[in-house]
Amino acid sequence: MDSSNKNAVYYDDSVVRQFSIMAVVWGVVGMAVGVLIASQLAWPELNFGIPWLSYGRLRPLHTNAVIFAFGGSALFATSYYVVQRTCQTRLFMPKLASLTFWGWQIVIVAAAISLPLGYTQGKEYAELEWPIDLLIAVTWVSYAIVFFGTIGIRKVRHIYVANWFFGAFIIAVALLHIVNSAAIPAGWMKSYSAYAGVQDAMVQWWYGHNAVGFFLTAGFLGMMYYFIPKQAGRPVYSYRLSIVHFWALIFTYMWAGPHHLHYTALPDWTQSVGMVFSLILLAPSWGGMINGVMTLSGAWHKLRDDPILRFLIVSLSFYGMSTFEGPMMSIKTVNALSHYTDWTVGHVHSGALGWVGLITMGSLYYLIPRLFGKTKMHSVGAIELHFWMATIGIVLYIAAMWIAGVMQGLMWRAVNPDGTLTYTFVESVKASYPFYVIRVAGGLLYLGGMLVMLWNTWKTAISGRSVKVAVPAVVAHA
Ligand code: HEM
Ligand code: HEM
Repeated sequence: MDSSNKNAVYYDDSVVRQFSIMAVVWGVVGMAVGVLIASQLAWPELNFGIPWLSYGRLRPLHTNAVIFAFGGSALFATSYYVVQRTCQTRLFMPKLASLTFWGWQIVIVAAAISLPLGYTQGKEYAELEWPIDLLIAVTWVSYAIVFFGTIGIRKVRHIYVANWFFGAFIIAVALLHIVNSAAIPAGWMKSYSAYAGVQDAMVQWWYGHNAVGFFLTAGFLGMMYYFIPKQAGRPVYSYRLSIVHFWALIFTYMWAGPHHLHYTALPDWTQSVGMVFSLILLAPSWGGMINGVMTLSGAWHKLRDDPILRFLIVSLSFYGMSTFEGPMMSIKTVNALSHYTDWTVGHVHSGALGWVGLITMGSLYYLIPRLFGKTKMHSVGAIELHFWMATIGIVLYIAAMWIAGVMQGLMWRAVNPDGTLTYTFVESVKASYPFYVIRVAGGLLYLGGMLVMLWNTWKTAISGRSVKVAVPAVVAHA
């Protein structure tokens, strides 16, 4: 084998670096808005009477910032990194990859301006108005071209399972976004949905649930299948299970959307289909979680002194928890209690903070030193600190919401012997107050951890001498 570097192929990591840094920055911004709206729920005067600081406008800003800006940037970064390593080739059309970075950042800035100004389509997680939707579609299709193009020019025959998950996430999100955003413009920042009535609701929650299934789950499973084996220094526990996991998950998620519309005008049988598929979903979700956790078998001791691995593995326990809770909440009689309450918000954040947040942080801690040519993050102690701040923050947040949620559900349904309601609505709001304050404390801790990460990232980027960043692809010598 020729050992000279004449034919060496270098990976395109500048776009990975850009997306990684922005993931950390948007994480701080999105979580800061989360803390602000959590505080407004406890102390409503914190909107200062200013329309663009009002809860109704900042809430979608929070969800868009954490899901699409923080989560999205991390998904772009990790998928571009992983697809190059596992296909042993550079990115297909690197200039287009760079355009996806700028396109995505413009979308985020447009969201950060238009949502506080009150422009919205009123569809949850799909609030942005049609011109921004068009830019999302163009950026996303470009992303698909770069990702699948890279798979197309791969130098190894096999397509590693992480790429299957990233690929499914990219295709599904394109499909969901384009179908759900179909609208008739009525001005530059105003449009009407192409669907009406209950069909509109069904399309919206087909989108909404699969945004959870593909944006907040499948893409992050792609991270799991690459970064856990890498950080643990062990192969995936069962490759066969990962393939079963993939197909079972992809097939099942698409049908579960109606569990968001229980007891509505949606035909009853559709709701039951949603419930049944949600229950089935427990199996592939847990199969995947077990596959990730068991990758550590024989190397459990590494958890003791490797905080990055701890981020990755604890994220899986939250994944397991939220994918057990979700199917339970989809059972109609359970949903009759949980729907409209803070139980849902607790479920969301055990998935969002616990699973999506921690797996992202663990993966970025693996990536960032490598992207800046360093052997490790500037401060390992700071990663440790971040881990504990985040974990305690999550526990405070979700425990408070579970208690508040079940309490609200029980108070709303309590009736006196004469048939009148035992509690007024405002009594349930008053009873929720202490839990809202606890959530603010949990959120502050979680946000504080993210600030520690920002500092650590900055120090890693600027400190010390860097070793050569680009690694020659093995195939160049093959
Ligand atoms: C510091 C951390 C965070 C805090 C304090 C926070 C706080 C909040 C608050 C107060 C709400 C509104 C709840 C309501 O309307 O009753 C909310 C909603 C939401 N947040 Fe967060 N959040 C944080 C981080 C995140 C992250 C990292 C994600 C996703 C990756 C996320 C995803 C969501 C989603 C999807 C909703 C909408 C939930 C629903 O409609 O049921 N949050 N958050
Ligand atoms: C097997 C997996 C899961 C199932 C079956 C499931 C099921 C459910 C159910 C039944 C609801 C309540 C619907 C309602 O009453 O309105 C819900 C809400 C939600 N779940 Fe899950 N869940 C699962 C996993 C996850 C994960 C892993 C995440 C996050 C990463 C997540 C994020 C959400 C969000 C954001 C909502 C709130 C939607 C909204 O009303 O705005 N879920 N889920």
